[in-house]
Amino acid sequence: MDIKVNFSGRSIRYTEEEIATVVDAMRNAEPLTQARHLQDFESKFARYQGVAEGSCFAVMNGCAALEMSAQLCRFKPGDEVVIPSHTFTASCYPYIKHGGHVVWADIDLATRVVTAETIERVMTPKTKAVVVVHLYGYVADMPAIVSLCKERGVILIEDTAQTIGSELGGVKAGAFGDMAIFSFHSHKNLTTLGEGGMLYVRDPKLAALVPGLRHNGHCAYDFERPDYWKPAMGNVDVPTIDGEMLMPSNYSLGEVECALGAKMLERIDTINDEKRCRAMRFIDGLSDWPELEFHRVPTRRHNYHLLAARMTSGTEKRDAFMRAMYEKKGVKCVVQYIPLDRYDFYTRLGYGRADCPNADTFFDTMISFPFQHWMPEDQFQYMLGAARAVMESLR
Ligand SMILES: Cc1ncc(COP(=O)(O)O)c(C=O)c1O
Repeated sequence: MDIKVNFSGRSIRYTEEEIATVVDAMRNAEPLTQARHLQDFESKFARYQGVAEGSCFAVMNGCAALEMSAQLCRFKPGDEVVIPSHTFTASCYPYIKHGGHVVWADIDLATRVVTAETIERVMTPKTKAVVVVHLYGYVADMPAIVSLCKERGVILIEDTAQTIGSELGGVKAGAFGDMAIFSFHSHKNLTTLGEGGMLYVRDPKLAALVPGLRHNGHCAYDFERPDYWKPAMGNVDVPTIDGEMLMPSNYSLGEVECALGAKMLERIDTINDEKRCRAMRFIDGLSDWPELEFHRVPTRRHNYHLLAARMTSGTEKRDAFMRAMYEKKGVKCVVQYIPLDRYDFYTRLGYGRADCPNADTFFDTMISFPFQHWMPEDQFQYMLGAARAVMESLR
């Protein structure tokens, strides 16, 4: 098969300035972890998000941020956590690991994310937390979801892994809830050398636990040491809140990655804007075939991390489209986000049933196009031409 447009796992290419930032940190950072680039990245990230200084914590990936957010929920037996079935698995399993009982929420078919209505439908008196996933790069209707969660006294967590820089009403995705997680994985619009993440915690009392949770329970001694080496370099304790002890891990992100993350914040808006402009050109270029339905959002509410469509005429037509794109045109589209209830993992854990018809319909008819930021214009034009030709041949 002569692949002309591949579905790459890498979203961006670095600029020479970004590469120089990495090289400089490689040469000069001392130590290579837990130092000034970490503080700088967290500070700049908080400023970018418009949230309080000291509320953002860099970690080694989005999953590590999810693990800590789940710990901070402090689930008790029977506590439920509402999670969309249409998402990536890491949005969910950390909450199971830390004692939450998952309840699946459906998505809206047009926007592919949860709404206040789909969440409220599955809430019960046992609901302790809600995880909103801004999937594909689109911010869910957060004002309505925030009101709902406040009214019910429920913890609201935003999975902003795919949505850095998107905003609604001047508020950044990830700045609405009680906590938020971000991913800087290779495929994301901002990546720190392939792995990386951030945890946002609004409540300063909970935020105070994160440095210890993130780094082996390391903390300062609470007494003066006349000899700095006695008893040893630093203390280790269990992060504790209201008498409850939380187990630490080491989820730290190194200095080189942090230096790059801080630098990339200067360019993320441009990357997002360029991806959105391109997405508009692609969507508008296929408007003669309305059965291939896109989510068209020409504003910063969508960063088009991914470019997804749905074949409204059904799975068979979707498959015919994908096959022709691949076999005749060499364009490798993919299908993403198997509703989690369909995975063996969740079935074996007792979560194998979900009443989420929109998630099922969307997944069974969706197409995700290759959409890396660095795709050359001639490849992009080729993919658009190929999609038009295949749609015409399927009429
Ligand atoms: C929606 C979503 N949540 C969570 C994650 C986990 O992030 P990471 O790969 O950085 O652990 C990802 C991506 O990888 C994701 O797409």
